[in-house]
Amino acid sequence: MNQSLPSKSPESLRSYRWFGPDDLRSFGHRSRLKGMGWSDEDYKGKPVIALLNTWSDLNTCHSHLRERAEEIKRGVWQAGGFPVEVPVMSLGEMLMKPTTMLYRNLLAMETEEVLRCHPIDGAVLMGGCDKTTPALLMGAISMDIPVIFFPAGAMLKARWKDQTLGSGSDAWKYWAERCAGNLCDEAWCEIENSIGRSAGVCMTMGTASTMMCIAEALGMCLPNASSIPAVIAEHSRLASATGRRIVDMVWEDLKPSDILTAGSFQNAVVTDMAIGGSTNALVHLLALARRAGISLEMADFDRLSRQTPLVANLRPVGKYLMEDFYNAGGLTALMQQIRSLLDVEQKTVNGKTLGENIQSAEVYDADVIRTTDNPVASSGGTYVLHGNLAPDGCVIKPAAAEARLLKHRGQAVVFENYPDLKARINQEDLDVTADSIIVLKSAGPQGAPGFPEWGMLPIPNKLLKQGVRDMVRISDARMSGTSYGTCVLHVSPESHVGGPLALVRTGDWIELNVEQRSIHLDVSDEVLAQRQRAWTAPQPKYVRGYGQVFLKHVTQAHQGCDFDFLEDRTKTSDPEIF
Ligand code: FES
Repeated sequence: MNQSLPSKSPESLRSYRWFGPDDLRSFGHRSRLKGMGWSDEDYKGKPVIALLNTWSDLNTCHSHLRERAEEIKRGVWQAGGFPVEVPVMSLGEMLMKPTTMLYRNLLAMETEEVLRCHPIDGAVLMGGCDKTTPALLMGAISMDIPVIFFPAGAMLKARWKDQTLGSGSDAWKYWAERCAGNLCDEAWCEIENSIGRSAGVCMTMGTASTMMCIAEALGMCLPNASSIPAVIAEHSRLASATGRRIVDMVWEDLKPSDILTAGSFQNAVVTDMAIGGSTNALVHLLALARRAGISLEMADFDRLSRQTPLVANLRPVGKYLMEDFYNAGGLTALMQQIRSLLDVEQKTVNGKTLGENIQSAEVYDADVIRTTDNPVASSGGTYVLHGNLAPDGCVIKPAAAEARLLKHRGQAVVFENYPDLKARINQEDLDVTADSIIVLKSAGPQGAPGFPEWGMLPIPNKLLKQGVRDMVRISDARMSGTSYGTCVLHVSPESHVGGPLALVRTGDWIELNVEQRSIHLDVSDEVLAQRQRAWTAPQPKYVRGYGQVFLKHVTQAHQGCDFDFLEDRTKTSDPEIF
């Protein structure tokens, strides 16, 4: 133990309630640990540190986390703590269906309850693949004991022939070429063999890297942790440093509620805009803020987007990958570039302010991390749009779209749901042109259900063969952070609950004006009212189990899609130990 640190005594540790008293129940707790080979000297009066590990054989991005768990434990031992590894649900983006978003709130609940019901004084949250980061943080915010986030880190850069491959983004790109008849089967197989280079999360600025960066901007992980690739030695050293630090955090009683403020959320939004982060970040940040009891609305994203230049030249918006970002200085260097936009007095998990953490950071490649005078785009990565088609808002990532489409009027080609889209999108007689607007309904939180990443709607093969590579597409779905194109997403309220998107019909004119932040369905109010009266609510997709809980309690996209009963800030009391 660092003798200068404790403000808590061993007897005041939460775990001491389980292990300290001279009674029958504590006898049981101690004797069973001794049955596992532990002695009093190992755990009694020491911070018990849980490693909430989202490792799984079915999570392709976290295959290195068992090894990292051992390295985190090493750090916990060094600092005088007692590490315990606790597996929690793993939300592997690639193999989990229908969508990991259906289970984000379940992992958040599990995180909170696992921390509550065990003799745990502090925790390391081990995650990275998309929803794992917000889920772990949401649960930890609600439990509010000392925690530190350990980012899984991104994969190394992939190569195919003389091309650099970025996960997700280049899969979409080369799939379009294959559908257009420009890529042979052999080349497609070579890309499949090459694009997953190593353990780690997608190495583009997809949702995983976005959320790791946001965790750091919030102050919830060690400086530059979000930028370190998954399989280099520095990632192992980060693991042991994280283990050492969480023990000190327990003695200092440094909790999420001591770190997360309106200022830290503003830092997270500004950073998200500057990195050209995933549109999914809005949903997760809204949920995190509500858990933390901090006011954050879609209007805040729009306001901060307008004043924040996009300075990270990373795919899918730009050119480079996460390994390049790390070599260019990483997130601390980027935050130093936008320092004037940040609240640098915000506290972070290492006990220092954000400003202190980024003070000495330097940019080593000015094409990867641009200056604010030479940005990739003059305003932030995600725009919030409103209009009669999306009264509660929707989002678009303009820097990932073809500029000519950002102001567009076209006729809708409507698909009622995803099976309808799959069945008809490539029919030769589909009445669609490059100027059409493809619309998908029933893809939101309740409609799909689960709010899947279907929003990069496919361009019909017959248009791909004509050379079309982008079209305006509108849905109440999300899209992968690795996706790109003129995709209007998160239309709220969603069609399944009777939002205006439900009323759109093929042939309707729609006007998109991204600069004006507007989306307009050019149909009279009278006609829309008639259609509304004729609309009938679809049957719920789940009638039992977790799915039913999800449908009954999930909020809409502009509210963060948390469960309404989990947003309550009333503290749930610790269990009585009988
Ligand atoms: Fe895990 Fe992309 S699949 S981060």
